[in-house]
Amino acid sequence: MSQSPTLSAAEIPSERLLLRRALLDTDREGLIELSTDPDVRAYIGGPRPRSEVEQHFDSVLAADATTRPGSYVIANNATNRVIGMVMLSRRSAGSPGPVTGDGEELELGYELRRGAWGAGYAFEAATAVLRAAAGELPDQPVLLTTQTANTRSLNLATRLGFRPVSTFEEYGAEQTLCTARLSMFRL
Ligand SMILES: CC(C)(COP(=O)(O)OP(=O)(O)OC[C@H]1O[C@@H](n2cnc3c(N)ncnc32)[C@H](O)[C@@H]1OP(=O)(O)O)[C@@H](O)C(=O)NCCC(=O)NCCS
Repeated sequence: MSQSPTLSAAEIPSERLLLRRALLDTDREGLIELSTDPDVRAYIGGPRPRSEVEQHFDSVLAADATTRPGSYVIANNATNRVIGMVMLSRRSAGSPGPVTGDGEELELGYELRRGAWGAGYAFEAATAVLRAAAGELPDQPVLLTTQTANTRSLNLATRLGFRPVSTFEEYGAEQTLCTARLSMFRL
């Protein structure tokens, strides 16, 4: 794993949300749903079989969601119910797609449970993470890769201020690489 720093905050509050580490018991169903829902997984590899996800939950999914730097559960701050995940992680050197710098740039990712789409939650969560990072880390590029056909994701990237810079093929589909400067999110 990369040694370059990412976000250190354990929790990030925003108007309607709390970005936090995963709670293994109460978040379990929501996190499993993220990996098994055909709508959520339509552009990110397709749904995984529930039995497989359940089997790997403790060792893989939960470890990422609870301890991986820059990886947060998105919870509704009124109910504490998990509605998705947002990640600001370091791209591993050798990742597919164009390299724009040293190959370990910050990379933003997000996924919401299907029932939470269309309410601005992903925008709010991504903005909160990027603002927190901009307050902690020096200015640098942030990358975002999404399937070109993933209109919702591309719209969100554009609303956040990311600009498409290139396209490439991966997983049998065209991907769009977008970038933004971290300093754009400084308050
Ligand atoms: C990509 C994804 C996170 C986008 O979710 P989203 O809810 O569309 O994104 P936003 O948070 O930006 O919300 C925007 C929508 O909320 C609406 N909205 C409602 N209240 C809002 C508010 N207070 N603030 C902002 N937008 C609001 C907007 O009008 C917009 O509606 P529209 O979709 O009808 O145009 C979601 O589709 C998803 O999880 N997809 C599956 C996983 C995935 O593909 N991830 C990308 C991997 S790269």
